[in-house]
Amino acid sequence: MSAVEGRKRRIGLLGAGVVGGGVIELLRARGSELGLELARVAVKDRTKVRPEIPSEVPVGTIDEVLADPSIDAVVELIGGLEPALSAVRTALEVEKDVVTANKLLVAEYGGELRRLANERGAALRFEASVAGCLPIIEIIEAGLIFDRVERLFGILNGTTNFILTRCQRDGSTYEDALAEARAAGFAEADPTLDVSGRDTAQKLAILVGLVTGRPCAPSSIAVSGIEHLVPADHLAAEEVGCRIKLIASFVRTGEGGRARVAPTLVPSSSALGLTTDEYNAVEVECAHIGWQLHLGKGAGRMPTASAVIHDLITLDAARERSRETESKGRRPALDLAASDAWTARWLIRVPEENPAWPVSRIGAAFAAHGVEIVEYRRSRRAGVGTIVLSAETTKGAIDRVARDIAKLQGAVKIPVVLAMEPDA
Ligand SMILES: NC(=O)c1ccc[n+]([C@@H]2O[C@H](COP(=O)([O-])OP(=O)(O)OC[C@H]3O[C@@H](n4cnc5c(N)ncnc54)[C@H](OP(=O)(O)O)[C@@H]3O)[C@@H](O)[C@H]2O)c1
Repeated sequence: MSAVEGRKRRIGLLGAGVVGGGVIELLRARGSELGLELARVAVKDRTKVRPEIPSEVPVGTIDEVLADPSIDAVVELIGGLEPALSAVRTALEVEKDVVTANKLLVAEYGGELRRLANERGAALRFEASVAGCLPIIEIIEAGLIFDRVERLFGILNGTTNFILTRCQRDGSTYEDALAEARAAGFAEADPTLDVSGRDTAQKLAILVGLVTGRPCAPSSIAVSGIEHLVPADHLAAEEVGCRIKLIASFVRTGEGGRARVAPTLVPSSSALGLTTDEYNAVEVECAHIGWQLHLGKGAGRMPTASAVIHDLITLDAARERSRETESKGRRPALDLAASDAWTARWLIRVPEENPAWPVSRIGAAFAAHGVEIVEYRRSRRAGVGTIVLSAETTKGAIDRVARDIAKLQGAVKIPVVLAMEPDA
């Protein structure tokens, strides 16, 4: 029961769109038993008829919600930076707790807002900002408090996972799969943030900040998206027993680590390989307890709304935890390795349009950069070309190999380089 001094916790809701509507529905259904009461709602278009909002709840502006002294907690479900950022700052300034699903806000301003919350004795919670209904933030902050996360691999974007699933399973082109994702309501009119990998990088930055206790800016994470993948890449992946997933990865190394977001080969039968459609999955490897897997719907009205409600009913415990963390002092930003220094095993696909060079010529490009070939095969599938798997080496070295292959006589198409991890 989430109560404030024997009464229900009064909620001011900023935004009543997809997720806000879900929160209203859950509060109507179970708010009373959870000790939560919807006090006010702010929307942009106040002329719109909103039968989902109970008639006794005033619908107005952000300022009206923030100025209401009876409101204990503000739920920010507007999205984007402004006016969301100013609203959250003001709410914390006047000592209201804040729950938000806004990954951009948390990834870019989380550190500042958490400090402000602590100064004011308020809580700032953001479970819904990463992986929808998966309680991954609660797990990292509370469930794994005794342990140390060494590695984290995640599928954190349902839109791209839906698109990649269609490409793998049905042989769809990227463009057709994107159109299908839009029709199914899984992709925005402008899907750039999702397909470029930047949405995933914002979520990864939040998780890395939590597992290391040090700030991690999304801009410090090297990112590549899924827009350039073609059906032949998926066929090549299948030929080596893998699927391509947009993987967010973090590996701790001493005081630093490496973090990246990239289309990555994972074994088809692995947990991440089997995470299909709009589902998200997060694997964490801890120093003491080993691997854990968390899997579920990463977005959508009810999965996201349920994470918001979780935050609202655990505000008191979260406030206490946050105070303890802050009392340990601020730590410098995490030192992330340059992307060229990442190591992995790699797949190079030399497109079919290039001449069928003898293995010795491709082998020479690998040898020139000290990279060992583990497997070499000419695919029989139309459009795929030659597949070469490397031993573990750096991204810098494998990119140099690919550049040399692109310079071979008669080359017309640049080789495709994909990382193989985890444990592919
Ligand atoms: N949708 C998902 O599946 C999902 C998943 C995870 C996280 N999130 C995050 O949740 C947040 C909300 O997403 P959403 O999909 O629910 O967005 P949405 O459907 O676009 O809803 C946004 C709401 O904010 C209101 N709003 C916009 N500008 C406003 C202003 N100046 N003053 C007051 N209200 C304003 C809109 O009012 P009107 O109704 O009048 O337009 C609308 O009710 C975002 O941060 C998003 O990243 C969403």
